[in-house]
Amino acid sequence: MLTFTTIASLREHLAGCRTSVNPAPTTGFVPTMGALHEGHLELMRRAKNENSLLVVSIFVNPIQFNNIEDLEKYPRLIEQDSKLLETVGCDVLFAPGVNEMYPKPETAQYDFGLLAQVMEGAARPGHFNGVAIVVRKLFEIVEPDKAYFGEKDFQQLAIIQRLVEICHLPVEIVPCAIVREADGLAMSSRNMRLTPQERAVSTRIYQTLIEAVRLTERNNPAALKQWVVNQLAAEPFFAIDYVEIAEDRLLQPIDTWNPETGCLIFVAVFLGKVRLIDNMRIF
Ligand code: PAJ
Repeated sequence: MLTFTTIASLREHLAGCRTSVNPAPTTGFVPTMGALHEGHLELMRRAKNENSLLVVSIFVNPIQFNNIEDLEKYPRLIEQDSKLLETVGCDVLFAPGVNEMYPKPETAQYDFGLLAQVMEGAARPGHFNGVAIVVRKLFEIVEPDKAYFGEKDFQQLAIIQRLVEICHLPVEIVPCAIVREADGLAMSSRNMRLTPQERAVSTRIYQTLIEAVRLTERNNPAALKQWVVNQLAAEPFFAIDYVEIAEDRLLQPIDTWNPETGCLIFVAVFLGKVRLIDNMRIF
C-alpha cells in the first residue's frame, strides 16, 4: 500500500496507474475518517472485489463537526489503521492534513431541500454541507468509478446520492449494509469512547429496533414511534436525540404504513457525551 498526504502526489500516482495498464483499472473508493473497524473494512473488501484498484481516504473533516469536543475527541489511529488497510488489500491510502484539503475557507452552500431538514440535518446544522464539500472534493481528486457508503449513515448516503445527481458527478454510489457487533450494536468509531457500563446497555438500541419492526402490524407509525421512545427513555444511560419513522427517499416522517414506499426507523441517542445513530428497515 502506498500512502499519500498531498493531492498532487496522489493524482500523479493515480494517473500513472491509469495509463500503465490496458484496459485502464477501475477505481473503487472508500472515504473514511479513520479509527477503522469491521464496518469500514466490509466496504473496502467489497470495493476491492469489484474494482482493480482500492483507494481509501482517512480525513477527520473539521467542517462537518458542529460540536468542537466531538471533533477534538474523534479517535486518530493512523498507524493501526494503516495495518488494517494492508489486510484488506488497500492499494492507495490518501491521508491529507487540514491545510491540504482546505487551503482557504470553504464557501460552497448546497441545497438538499427536505432531505437535509430532518434528523441529522436538523440536529447537526451545517453537518451535511460539510460532508458534501469534502466528499465532492475527494471525488474530484480520486476520480473513482465507484464509491462505497454504509447504510449505518443512511441519511448521509441519501445526501451523497443527491449530490451526485445535482452536480452530475461521474461516479456510481454503492450502498453497503450495516455491520454490527455480536450483540447488535452498530459498529462506529465512536463506540470506543463508551464506558464499559454504557457499552453494556448500548445493545438496547438494536434490541428496541428489532422488536419495533416486529410490532409494526399492531401499531400505526405514531404509536410505534412512541413505543420506541418509551423503550429508550426507560434506559437511564440514554438521552434520546430523536426517533423517527420515515420513508426511504426524502426521509420524511410518515403517518400511515404503505408497503409500496420503503420506510425505516431511525434513532439518535446520547450515552453520556457520545452520540450514537442507528436505523432499521421496516419495508
Ligand atoms: P466514517 O464515519 O469514518 O464512515 C466511513 C464510511 O463507513 C461511511 O460510508 C459509513 O456509513 C461507513 N460505516 C461506518 N460504520 C459502519 C457500519 N457499522 N456498517 C456499515 N458501514 C459503516 O461517514 C464518514 O466517515 C464521513 O462523513 C465521510 C463520508 C468520510 C466524509 O467525511
